[in-house]
Order: sequence, then C-alpha cells, then structure tokens
Amino acid sequence: MRQGEAVNRHADPAAWWKAVYSDVPLTTQWDDGDHSGDRRGTTPTSSNSPPTMVFSMLAALDVDGAGRVLEIGTGTGWNAALLSHRLGAGNVVTAEVDEETAAEARRRLGRAGFRPTSVVGDGAKGHPEGAPFDRVIATCSVGEVPYAWVAQSRPGGVIVAPWGPGYGGEAVVRLTVGDDGMASGRFVGSSAFMRLRRQRAFRPGSLEYLSGPWPADGAESSTSLSPEELGGWPAMFAIGVQVPGAFPRIERYADGSYTLWLHDTAVTSWATADWEPGRGSYEVVQSGPRRLWGEVEAAWSWWDDRGRPGFERFGLTVSPDGHSVWLDSPDHPVPLRD
Ligand SMILES: C[S@@+](CC[C@H](N)C(=O)[O-])C[C@H]1O[C@@H](n2cnc3c(N)ncnc32)[C@H](O)[C@@H]1O
Repeated sequence: MRQGEAVNRHADPAAWWKAVYSDVPLTTQWDDGDHSGDRRGTTPTSSNSPPTMVFSMLAALDVDGAGRVLEIGTGTGWNAALLSHRLGAGNVVTAEVDEETAAEARRRLGRAGFRPTSVVGDGAKGHPEGAPFDRVIATCSVGEVPYAWVAQSRPGGVIVAPWGPGYGGEAVVRLTVGDDGMASGRFVGSSAFMRLRRQRAFRPGSLEYLSGPWPADGAESSTSLSPEELGGWPAMFAIGVQVPGAFPRIERYADGSYTLWLHDTAVTSWATADWEPGRGSYEVVQSGPRRLWGEVEAAWSWWDDRGRPGFERFGLTVSPDGHSVWLDSPDHPVPLRD
C-alpha cells in the first residue's frame, strides 16, 4: 500500500483489512482535521503506527508486571487497547490533544470492551491526578522530554519516547527514572513519528532569509564534503544534536543536481551547498551570524571521526534544567556547535 492512499472500509473492505494488517503507518487524520475526503492532505497529524514499531516500543517499555502507565498520543486507541489488555484498563491513562480523535478512540475502545482513563489535552503536562506512573510512553515525538513525565514517574520507572532534534534524525529513547529527579538511558532504534503538537517546528521559507536574489550578501567558499554524506537518518541525528535551532531543505533541479539549504529557526542565518554528480568540490555560500555550513561540517566530522555511530551508541539524560545527549556514557556529552 502506498502512503497517503485512501482506503474506505465500507467501499472496499478487503483493501481496508489488508491495510490494517500491513506493517505501515496508516494516516487517520491530515492537517489537524482541517482536511477531509479521499485525497491526501499536507501533513499527517494522527495515525496508526506500524505494528513492528508499536511492538518494539512496548517491548522497550517492559510492561510485564508494571503498575500504572501513561500514554501520550491516543490516536486510534490501538496502543491503549493493547496496554489495557495487558495491565487492566484501570491502570492505563491515555492523553490526546485532538478532541475529535480522542472521542473516536474512546468510542472504539469502548466497543472493544476497554475503558482506560482518556484525557483530552496537552500530554506534555502529563496527568498529575493519575501520578505516580510506573511507565510513560509517548507515541508522538519530542525534541525535549517534558519534565512533567519524569516528575510524575516513580523512581525506577521507565519512559519510552521518540526523540529527535529539529534538524532531522529521530530514535526511540528508553529512560529510567532515578530517585535524584533525573532520567537517563539509551536510544534503542530509529523512528519517525509526528511531533508533539506544541513542539512542532517553525520553518519559514528560504526566501524569507535572503536580503536580495541569491547569493545576496552570502560569503562564497567550497568544500570537499559532499552534501550526499549528510542525508542519512543517523547522520542527521548526530548533526542535529550538535547544531540546535537549524534545519535543512533540499531544492532539486531537473538535471538531478540539488541545493542543500541550511536555515536557523531564529531567521538570522542561512547557507547553501550545491551538489552535482561527479564533482569532488562543492560550492558553499553562507550568510548571517551563524556559519551554518561550518557548524554542520564540524558536526559531521565529529560523527565521522567516531566511526559514524548508530543510534544505539547515543543516550539522553533529562533533568529539571534540560537535557544532555551523550555518546556511549553520560560523561561523554555530544558537543554543541552554535
Ligand atoms: C502516531 S499518533 C498515535 C498513535 C496511537 N498511539 C495509536 O495507537 O493509534 C500521534 C498522536 O499524538 C497526538 N498528539 C500530538 N501532540 C499531542 C499532545 N501534546 N498531547 C497529546 N497527544 C498529542 C496526535 O494528535 C496523534 O493522534
């Protein structure tokens, strides 16, 4: 099944069941519900996650014998049903920011015989009335783990959440909550979830950065680092952790070449790197107080020098003051470039 293809349960039940049993994400809402009908909208805003992702996250959550669980992102209600089946619905709280999605999930869960506590609102706040929790699972991604999830967990509790920098690259992190108010743990595998609503990225168009026609006031240079090297999910993750408040955009041309644009979210700086096949040197232009190509190149070199580590070598520590991403152990924090 192609992503974004519409399937109507009543018009084509066979295709619907096939989709339901496929290991793909099924978008169930576009554009916060503003878009409806058979054609795809612009941005998927609620979905049923692929079964392998759901089960690998539940395995990481390790719910066997666990008491109370908070889920952020009810979506269709499927994960809440699985948790309710395992733990008893009385031990499950599921929070959904979208009112209609939450109402539909509640009806669906009820038909399946499950009545977990269903909260409508911003799951970043957790659910203090239901705390303390033994497990917290987010099924939308974050760039910052809301501290409420740590504060509302019991010491020894586990938080499983997709985490990724604004630049791109994302992986599921499994944090164990300590009795010192901190939570720490490793990334367990790649993911690509929709963002927690209040942490969605602000991404102005490239033209908003230019003071005139490109290259405007940009300083020109060249690099031997191919923009092709920067595109993989682990590379983007490693770059994004080191280069916060920045994001890439690709402008493709008919002949197959492209420009990699780099922008900062403060709308002060931009850079371009042009990729053409068969070249060993690539033209770079940079403008603004942040030298974004310089930051990205240094971040990529750091990652390359360490053997291009995958997600499993990275970890995250969350404290009341913020977060720190580390490589191999918490005493090796990943450096920041800006
Ligand atoms: C990938 S879907 C969840 C999948 C779901 N667990 C299931 O079993 O179908 C992500 C959901 O997170 C919700 N969401 C986004 N931001 C949220 C927030 N701040 N609080 C609660 N839910 C949120 C979205 O509306 C969406 O329904």
